Amino acid sequence: MSRVAVTGASGLIGSALVRSLGADGHEVVRLVRRAPRAPGEVAWDPARGHVDAAGLAGCDAVVHLAGAGIGDHRWTAAYKKEIRDSRVHGTGALAEALASLDRPPRVLLSGSAIGIYGDTGERVVDEDAPPGSGFLAEVCRDWEEAAGAAAEAGVRTVLLRTGLVLSRHGGLGARLFPLFRLGLGGRLGGGGQYWSFIALRDHVAALRHLLDAADVSGPVNLTAPHPVTNREATRVLGRALRRPAPFAVPAPALRLALGEMAEDVLAGQRAVPRRLLETGFSFACPDFESAARAALTED
Ligand SMILES: NC(=O)c1ccc[n+]([C@@H]2O[C@H](COP(=O)([O-])OP(=O)(O)OC[C@H]3O[C@@H](n4cnc5c(N)ncnc54)[C@H](OP(=O)(O)O)[C@@H]3O)[C@@H](O)[C@H]2O)c1
Repeated sequence: MSRVAVTGASGLIGSALVRSLGADGHEVVRLVRRAPRAPGEVAWDPARGHVDAAGLAGCDAVVHLAGAGIGDHRWTAAYKKEIRDSRVHGTGALAEALASLDRPPRVLLSGSAIGIYGDTGERVVDEDAPPGSGFLAEVCRDWEEAAGAAAEAGVRTVLLRTGLVLSRHGGLGARLFPLFRLGLGGRLGGGGQYWSFIALRDHVAALRHLLDAADVSGPVNLTAPHPVTNREATRVLGRALRRPAPFAVPAPALRLALGEMAEDVLAGQRAVPRRLLETGFSFACPDFESAARAALTED
């Protein structure tokens, strides 16, 4: 049994991880952005860069999943700043708090995303690929760098380059599945952009694997082994939900509806999980069809 601190514990991945850890008898400490009101809650204020470091004493591991939602609002200049600051400031404050402890945790799993690779087109990227360009790529690069203080203090630091997490409870699935159910599904733009997805259950299993993988540090792609194009994903979802998905939302309409965020939807990453596979992780849902079916039938 170990004591694991989690930021973003109320989020899609965080709440599933907390359930998984609790079910196996681990003690979970939640970092909360309000006054703590239950045992096991520790205060932090990522916007101001404050962490109650004393509350983290005795933790064996920290999983850092906090950040303002990428798709929650239109990307105004103010919201782009919030997307960035919530990650970069929060991560820096957390890493420094961990480094200041007499006995730091043995491992920090720190959030990042495959957006770091930019738009990779047809090119397959693993963890050795260099960062790309664009807003999200720059945010991810700075977000990863902000975890540096923990690594320098000797904490094994893993950078979680997460792909599109498939679940009906949040993220892409919560937005797409209802549209497909109404028969309004369709490809986005040309549909040739790659989706590197991962089923929520595989993401949580990969986090549990990485907590125990004592020799793994640095970037790790959390994506299933077989990325698909948006066109192929649309076909599979239409079939799984027994609804035709005849529509195509042209790129100009996406730009009009979503503003700058459309560039993220129209871009793609063809990322593969080389390090997870090398370290013996096995995916329950390696292809899009099994991941979509798992997401659609989640409790
Ligand atoms: N889901 C995906 O497809 C995906 C893909 C790539 C990367 N990621 C990254 O993985 C992490 C977890 O993803 P998720 O899907 O679980 O996200 P999520 O459901 O949006 O949850 C993120 C959590 O972060 C905290 N948060 C919200 N706004 C914040 C702010 N302004 N400052 C600091 N914390 C804030 C909240 O937790 P509290 O209220 O408990 O603090 C929230 O529940 C995120 O950093 C996300 O960018 C996710």
